[in-house]
Amino acid sequence: MNAANPKSSVRVDAPEWVRHRRLQAWVGEIAALTRPDRIEWCDGSQEEYDRLCAGLVRAGTLRRLNPEKRPNSYLAWSDPDDVARVEDRTFICSERQEDAGPTNNWAPPGQMRETLHGLFDGCMQGRTLYVIPFSMGPLGSPIAHIGVELTDSPYVVANMRIMTRMGRKVYDVLGEDGDFVPCVHSVGKPLQPGEADVPWPCNPTKYIVHYPEAREIWSFGSGYGGNALLGKKCFALRIASNMGRDEGWLAEHMLILGVTSPQGRKMHVAAAFPSACGKTNFAMMIPPASLPGWKVTTIGDDIAWIKPGSDGRLRAINPEAGYFGVAPGTNEKTNYNCMASLRENVLFTNVALTDDGDVWWEGMGPAPAHCLDWQGRDWTPDCGRKAAHPNARFTVSAQQNPAIDPDWDNPEGVTIDAFVVGGRRADTVPLVTEARNWVEGVYMAATLGSQTTAAAAGAQGVVRRDPFAMLPFCGYNMSDYFAHWLRLGDKLQTAGATLPRFFAVNWFQTDDEGRFLWPGFGENMRVLKWMLERIEGDAGGRDTLLGTTPRYEDIAWDGLDFGRDAFDRITAIDAQAWQHELASHAEWFDKLAAGLPAALRAHCERLTAQLVS
Ligand code: GTP
Ligand code: SPV
Ligand code: MN
Repeated sequence: MNAANPKSSVRVDAPEWVRHRRLQAWVGEIAALTRPDRIEWCDGSQEEYDRLCAGLVRAGTLRRLNPEKRPNSYLAWSDPDDVARVEDRTFICSERQEDAGPTNNWAPPGQMRETLHGLFDGCMQGRTLYVIPFSMGPLGSPIAHIGVELTDSPYVVANMRIMTRMGRKVYDVLGEDGDFVPCVHSVGKPLQPGEADVPWPCNPTKYIVHYPEAREIWSFGSGYGGNALLGKKCFALRIASNMGRDEGWLAEHMLILGVTSPQGRKMHVAAAFPSACGKTNFAMMIPPASLPGWKVTTIGDDIAWIKPGSDGRLRAINPEAGYFGVAPGTNEKTNYNCMASLRENVLFTNVALTDDGDVWWEGMGPAPAHCLDWQGRDWTPDCGRKAAHPNARFTVSAQQNPAIDPDWDNPEGVTIDAFVVGGRRADTVPLVTEARNWVEGVYMAATLGSQTTAAAAGAQGVVRRDPFAMLPFCGYNMSDYFAHWLRLGDKLQTAGATLPRFFAVNWFQTDDEGRFLWPGFGENMRVLKWMLERIEGDAGGRDTLLGTTPRYEDIAWDGLDFGRDAFDRITAIDAQAWQHELASHAEWFDKLAAGLPAALRAHCERLTAQLVS
């Protein structure tokens, strides 16, 4: 009987390499509340990973894929009601509602703690509580932060080992009293004695809860992705955005890439695209052969932590260590490096299983004559259903990416030369526009709109404002977040530092038949090249209402048949469409209301006045 754990006979018994008293006491408290059958202190070893995966195979959660086709890889099929992040069940429980702001769900923290206490009471019965120590960012780096996730899902443990720097070495950094963000997760399905488990335990009641002041995360009822891998959106974005605001840095939903010119000049770009809008693709892009000598390397594909360096320039690190990427649409042509990363040591979730024990998804290549879909049902090309869930994902170590940047793990990060923002817009928003200054850039990002995707549960394809691609991820008041960006720019500019440029892009305009007008993927290199030449001062452009856009002759067209008319169409600014668009920006600002920086409202009014004149 453990003293801290009167209701349960589970022993906390930390191994000797865990010397952190407060951490041990906290594990004891959570165990007393959730009453697991046993506690396992994860060490992050390969042996542990293999053992957990073998257990998951026995439990029916994972299937081992054909080792000849996909060595050391597994496939999970989730419960059909647990396939994406649940934004309407995600809460920012700050002390004051206004600190969560109008874009976040809020409940008083005291009341939420009571609700969660009820849900977590006994919720791990019949299961193992795993203690997962992890570092977001290189171990021991001054910009990294440590978290400890307690979970009853071995699938989460396996994913966290790929997605973060996880294991015993984290305790060496933590020492006896180091700081960590406590993250508590349960699938919310206790087992009665003798009760058989299901392959994907979860609970119809779901809560993804953040206490920003206490820097604490509690997640109940889901085993999927960002709901359950708490280092990712919950910590590295929602909690870290609060840390960043307080400490003068940025936690962003951005990829980070390095791009090297044929002359060997290297720049770094951080790009905010909403979920399932092309971050992984852009971060791993292979430039077309017709633009010889250009090279793109990956620092990160989803999250950037950005801090001013001693020279005042912004430096970025990727706090993650793996990719949890969208499978559908990925193939050798759209993302060769991604496919190469997926050859072995991969966890797939909700893709289809082929008859020879490999995986398939829509857009991967020719459809098999038969396979099992993501719910295990027989699937044939004419059956009228999708074989993979549209939010099917792979989990893979960043080190398997052939285009990994030599600095991806550098604790100093990389210097950012440009910010890019872009959503999924079938019309209205031109291919690329450069902001004329920081405020205009922040305006572009603050008013970013995108059609919603399968990455979140709910209606799909509707345009919503997704500022900086952070709508579901900003852990505090959105107006304060814009003010934080503006303030940081001001501060750096006053100190005489070179600020990154801002660009807005849209790869997703369609014709009347819904076909994409811009070829996208590797061809996006042409736009990236123009951006870099703008920064170097070598590329022309034309001034528009929104900023600076390339003329046809400013883009390198070698090897691509893309005519002037087509280009004019995707770079046009339609006055009527923009009247609607600007009115919608104004409405969006009305919704944010109190605290919205005056500079943003003023910019909206300036654009509106210019458009009608
Ligand atoms: P999260 O991991 O959800 O944050 O998303 P992400 O931004 O990393 O998304 P990802 O790169 O995986 O985007 C996946 C979807 O975007 C797939 O359907 C791709 O086919 C599509 N996509 C990516 N780049 C392009 C592009 O340049 N053009 C078009 N038309 N589609 C693209
Ligand atoms: C996203 O939805 O933006 C993701 C996937 O990157 S998840 O980790 O599930 O949030
Ligand atoms: Mn994401």
